[in-house]
Amino acid sequence: MIIAIDGPAASGKGTLARRLAESLNLAYLDTGSLYRATGVATIRAGGDPALEADAVKAAKALDLAKFTPADLRSEEAGIAASKVAFIPAVRAALLDFQRNFARSKASGKAGAVLDGRDIGTVVCPDADFKIFIEADLETRVRRRVKELRETGENIIEARVRADMQARDARDQDRTVAPLKLADDAFRLDTSALTADEAFAQARAYIDSKVPKAKR
Ligand code: CDP
Repeated sequence: MIIAIDGPAASGKGTLARRLAESLNLAYLDTGSLYRATGVATIRAGGDPALEADAVKAAKALDLAKFTPADLRSEEAGIAASKVAFIPAVRAALLDFQRNFARSKASGKAGAVLDGRDIGTVVCPDADFKIFIEADLETRVRRRVKELRETGENIIEARVRADMQARDARDQDRTVAPLKLADDAFRLDTSALTADEAFAQARAYIDSKVPKAKR
């Protein structure tokens, strides 16, 4: 079983993906962490995340063991991620890893859930279930501010809003693998939902559909 979850920044993808993985015994890959790690590695090497040569070099040599969750969750890492993600050769360099993760059944697991921007459209177009998760800008800004403050990052709300709008625009407007709704995706707006309610709606969608593999 493969579940693809796509959506913009702070729409609730990670929370939902983790809960689905736990409840359905699936392996979980947060694909944003690959782009974040590539962005941070580029900066650590003294490069520019917006420069193809620097970013591709980092993507090809990526070693996730070199990053702590805190290294990857910062606002700076998110911005660097969306810059490297804009570069087609970076996306190509990270594609195999994501497809292999989805295909290779982790031991004892029933399949995988991946979240990102292009999972249902490019990485796993044949996924058994596709969820496109959305939330309005102010809700997403509130969530991201809370998340960053909890990690101790000293941030300004107006700055987070501006960064998120710039990131949304870059993710939606790029020519390769932009963030967009797959034709066969289940749309879930979490603006007015708690995490429990979003999970319940996603489970209802999954439970109402017989997995392709079992048809
Ligand atoms: O957590 P948040 O939603 O803010 O971001 P993320 O999922 O960690 O992704 C960080 C950035 O990586 C995004 O803004 C995208 O530009 C990029 N990304 C992508 O292009 N394709 C993916 N499958 C996942 C992330």
